[in-house]
Formats: sequence, structure tokens, C-alpha cells
Amino acid sequence: MTKPLNVALVGYGFMGKAHANAYRKVGHFFPELEHRPQLTCLCARDPDKAEKFAETWGVESVESDWRRVVERDDIDVIDICSPNNTHHDLAIAAAEAGKWVLCEKPLAMSTAEAEAMTAAVEKAAVPNMVWFNYRRVPAIALARQLVDEGRTGRPFHYRATYLQDWTIAPDLPQGGQTLWRLDVDVAGSGVTGDLLAHSIDTAMWLNGPIEQVVAATETFVKERVHQATGNAQPVGIDDACMFLARFANGSMGTFESTRYARGRKNYNTFELNGADGSVHFDLEDPQYLDFFEHKLPGTDQKVADHLTGWRRIHATNFEHPYMDHWWVPGCTIGYEHTFINALADFLAGVASSTPAQPDFRCALQTQKVCDAVLKSAHTGEWVTTGVEAE
Ligand SMILES: NC(=O)c1ccc[n+]([C@@H]2O[C@H](COP(=O)([O-])OP(=O)(O)OC[C@H]3O[C@@H](n4cnc5c(N)ncnc54)[C@H](O)[C@@H]3O)[C@@H](O)[C@H]2O)c1
Repeated sequence: MTKPLNVALVGYGFMGKAHANAYRKVGHFFPELEHRPQLTCLCARDPDKAEKFAETWGVESVESDWRRVVERDDIDVIDICSPNNTHHDLAIAAAEAGKWVLCEKPLAMSTAEAEAMTAAVEKAAVPNMVWFNYRRVPAIALARQLVDEGRTGRPFHYRATYLQDWTIAPDLPQGGQTLWRLDVDVAGSGVTGDLLAHSIDTAMWLNGPIEQVVAATETFVKERVHQATGNAQPVGIDDACMFLARFANGSMGTFESTRYARGRKNYNTFELNGADGSVHFDLEDPQYLDFFEHKLPGTDQKVADHLTGWRRIHATNFEHPYMDHWWVPGCTIGYEHTFINALADFLAGVASSTPAQPDFRCALQTQKVCDAVLKSAHTGEWVTTGVEAE
């Protein structure tokens, strides 16, 4: 017997669409799940656009104030797909009302907010998750599997980049409904919270806690017209951020992110170098995991040296993470499927009482690293992150 689960989405933008698609499809591709999400409510500020979205996606009702959604008895789950400055109040109110809470990344505007949100979901004992969806790219999940299997060995280096190019034009405004990412009061930070939060979550998932960071940030365009006021206002976000990291396992990391890398659209890459092997991934070529295995199993190393080389694994076999739920080997899945895979993990975690990660407490650790990075960029000194040991 399946159980219906009434979901309220807050936000109909980029993530509202990605999540609505996941709720619609998860039961088809993961039929073993006990819960069947229903799109019961959509909450967003513009009623006309919200009605249109609800019609397109088959959402049963529309609200324009999230407080009203939290009060509704017919809602089981609140899924926060609205800008970063709404996450804190919404998540806490939803948890206090006993709703399950899913929240987009970054969890919050600051560590203090993230701590309060984590305390609220834990006090209410409600299922919760943060949508760091890249963990659900099969090739990235495969990287985690190879690390867990000991195939990369003692880690020395972790290298991540997250590059885009969409804010180079100096006449691009900031703020308003479309460009809130450039408004520090709504976004909290620039590339650090928006892009590096993803890189940090992936890095700590693959390579353990980051203990210390030293960072530099830059804001290339110092003033932009604000869409709300029509006036030129200082830009408070970081346009670019680079930082060095020391992991608890003794390895070193470099992280680079910018929205000024001409030609790079969503260039999210990482490489981990261990004593016995390396893994490399590039989100613009997401079906592949590159793997270098130093010791070929079952071979004499002297003989094997002439055979070693990078291997491109097309992560589409049934044996690869998630792929037994999709198509036949060789047929690829894409960006939207990472949200379906994440939702499936979340629902399976609730059913088995083994919470899927990253939950709020896990995402709080990423928030701590983001805050340490911004603090270090300000002081120019190494900063201890305070990330909890695993
Ligand atoms: N996981 C990912 O890869 C990923 C990708 C993009 C965005 N995000 C995150 O998702 C969140 C939303 O980003 P987006 O790109 O979808 O933004 P968007 O601008 O496309 O959409 C934002 C939506 O929020 C609604 N909204 C704004 N304020 C609101 C309020 N007070 N009450 C109700 N609704 C409100 C807007 O009406 C709009 O529908 C952000 O936290 C962002 O960081 C995550």
C-alpha cells in the first residue's frame, strides 16, 4: 500500500521546476517507495505566474503567503525553493508546525541561521534534507564508491573549480525577482554560497571534513543599478573566490569559483589524488568519471606500468549508482534526474529510519566552511572552520 504525501512547493523558479518534475516522476522510476508525493500546493509571490505554473504542473492549489501554507493541515512536506533570505524563517516555522522540511542550498545566509534551523528540525524530529543534488550524479556517487573501496588510497590533493560567466557585463543590474543572486541582502554571499557550497559539500562527502581555510575574494564590478530602486548601489557579493583548504585527513585542497570565466557556463569539476589512484569529474561532461588506478589488481606492478593510464568510465551500467532505476546501459540520464535520485533517497531514508544525507546538520557543516572562507577573505588569515568530525 502506498501512502500519499502532500507537498507544498515554495517558489516556481528554476528549482521549483526541477523539484516539481522530481515529485511527478519519482514514483514512476522508484516504484518501490512507500510514499507517493502529490503536488498539493504552490506558494509564490506573483499570483498570475503561480497560477500558470500550477496549471502546467498540475498543482492543486496556490498560495501567496508561505505562513498560510505552514498553517494548512493538509500539507505534510514543505519544500523551500525560494531565495536564500527566506530559508531561515520558513524552515523554522515549517518544523515547528511538524512538517517535513526540504530546503534548497545554501541552507542559510550564515552559520548562526543554519544552527537555528538545524536545532528546529531536530527539536521537532521532522525528516529534513538539503538539495545538494550533485551527490546524486551517478558518476559522482561512483567516485564516492571508489574512495570507499580504498581504490584511491591515502589522499594528498583535492582540487575543485566551479566557473560561470554570466555576470561579466557591467550594466547587468542587481536585485529584483531575477537577479537576487547579485544582491547580498537576499543571497547572503556571491559565488561562495551559490557555487562553492556545492563544491564544499561534494568535497567533504568524498574526502572528509575541512578543518582550515585561507581565502581571497574579489568583486570586479563595484556598483550595479538595483532593480528595486533604479539607483546604482554598491555590490556586496563576492564575484570570485579562491581558497586553500586543509582536510582532517591530512590532504590539501584548492577551490576556485567565479562568474567571470568567459566561456564557462557551469564548469563544476573536481579531482582527488591519492597514493593509489585519482578520480576526476566535470559536470559539463557528466556521464563520465575519469579514474586513474596506479596498481592494477592481480598484476605484477613492473609488468603493469606500461598498462596504466586514465580510464573513462561511462557511468550508465546497471551496476553504477542509481542506473538500475533508469535506462539500459549506454543510455544517459541528465541534470533533472539528480533531483529525482535525491528525492528517492530522501523518501527511502524516511521509510527505513536511516535519514538520507545531507540533512540540515550535514549542510550546517558546509555553511561553517562558507562562513570561514568569507571571514578569511576579510582578514587574510587562516581560519578554523569548526566543522564537526564525522
Ligand atoms: N541545487 C541546485 O543546484 C540549485 C540550483 C539553483 C538554485 N538553487 C537554490 O534554490 C533557491 C531558489 O533559486 P532559483 O534559482 O530557483 O530562484 P528563482 O529566482 O528562479 O526562483 C525563486 C522563486 O522564489 C519565489 N519567492 C521569492 N521570495 C518568496 C517569498 N518570500 N515567498 C514565496 N516565494 C518566494 C519567487 O516567486 C520564485 O518563484 C536558492 O536558494 C538557490 O540557491 C539550487
